[in-house]
Amino acid sequence: MDAITAEMLIREVVRSHPATARVFAHHGMPCAGCQIAAAETVAQGAAAHGIAPALLLEELNRVAAGGEAPATTRTRPPGKLAREGIRRVVAVMSGKGGVGKSLVTGLCALTTRRAGRQVGILDGDITGPSIPRMFGLQDARRGELPAVSRSGIRIASMNLLLESEEQPVIWRGPLVSGALRQFFTDLEWGELDYLWVDLPPGTSDAPLTALQALPLDGVVMVATPQALAGMVVKKAIRLVQELGVPILGVVENMSYLPLPDGTILEPFGPSTARELVLASGAPLLARVPLDQRIAGLCDTGRIEEYRSPAAEELAVNLGSVLEEDLQEVEKDG
Ligand SMILES: Nc1ncnc2c1ncn2[C@@H]1O[C@H](COP(=O)(O)OP(=O)(O)OP(=O)(O)O)[C@@H](O)[C@H]1O
Ligand SMILES: [Mg+2]
Repeated sequence: MDAITAEMLIREVVRSHPATARVFAHHGMPCAGCQIAAAETVAQGAAAHGIAPALLLEELNRVAAGGEAPATTRTRPPGKLAREGIRRVVAVMSGKGGVGKSLVTGLCALTTRRAGRQVGILDGDITGPSIPRMFGLQDARRGELPAVSRSGIRIASMNLLLESEEQPVIWRGPLVSGALRQFFTDLEWGELDYLWVDLPPGTSDAPLTALQALPLDGVVMVATPQALAGMVVKKAIRLVQELGVPILGVVENMSYLPLPDGTILEPFGPSTARELVLASGAPLLARVPLDQRIAGLCDTGRIEEYRSPAAEELAVNLGSVLEEDLQEVEKDG
């Protein structure tokens, strides 16, 4: 075997020696599935994460030669609402409003559904729900919850319990917490591989309730280049870390605008994906461009028809971040 050197690209190392992904993850460089790894060398990665390159190389070469990889065990935090039959609960969060949390929740749900998984969405934005419309379920109002989308995603949202979509929900914090818990515990979700939780904006009451009340296995953090610059996303990252919930990945939304001539515009400033990865210690799952079709499909309830390179990228990376873990859960029964 040729030795791994500091000049090799991280992605190439992981491609030729898949076991090394664990070494990177162990050092807080979960770069394996990450777009940034395509451009970054082992030396650059080590420098960015403050690790001595020689130590990292030694470990990489040992594992590549068949040595034991460091364990990356994840355990469910104790003292939360337990729930039979729901294997993975992942919340989608951002400190900031309007950056595409609900869209990313929808994309995570539809890509894991396309991969053949049983999938649900808990619309945790009790006072400003937007998931039902995205999936064309606004007319499922007052039917049984969870409602079922065209591709078989089970969806629970406050919006589906109201008389009309426009009716405002004016609730204070404790009621919101109660509703979230009830959605989780009292509904007939059936067997689910993934329950995606769409969180409301901010770092205050409502998202905090979900973070503390639901047995989350992790969080996907969403930011736009502009939002990261505004510090609120970093604040959300800190909050999640302080609560001890793993950040599984980050998504940069509205990252760029592709132009017909093949060039791109960056209306919200240059990409801050790398900064996001460093601040969270989690891999970049996708950079989602501004795409006119997204707005159209969301408005007409057909988000499940959305296909794009960014959605593919998200699917592949979610696969590598979540599937290994899920298969272990399945093995344990
Ligand atoms: N990449 C994108 N391209 C085009 N439109 C987008 C994109 N991402 C989101 N949108 C649109 O921007 C709007 C806001 O997105 P979304 O509702 O997902 O944000 P949010 O973070 O959940 O907002 P809130 O904080 O209000 O919950 C929606 O109308 C959505 O369709
Ligand atoms: Mg939303």
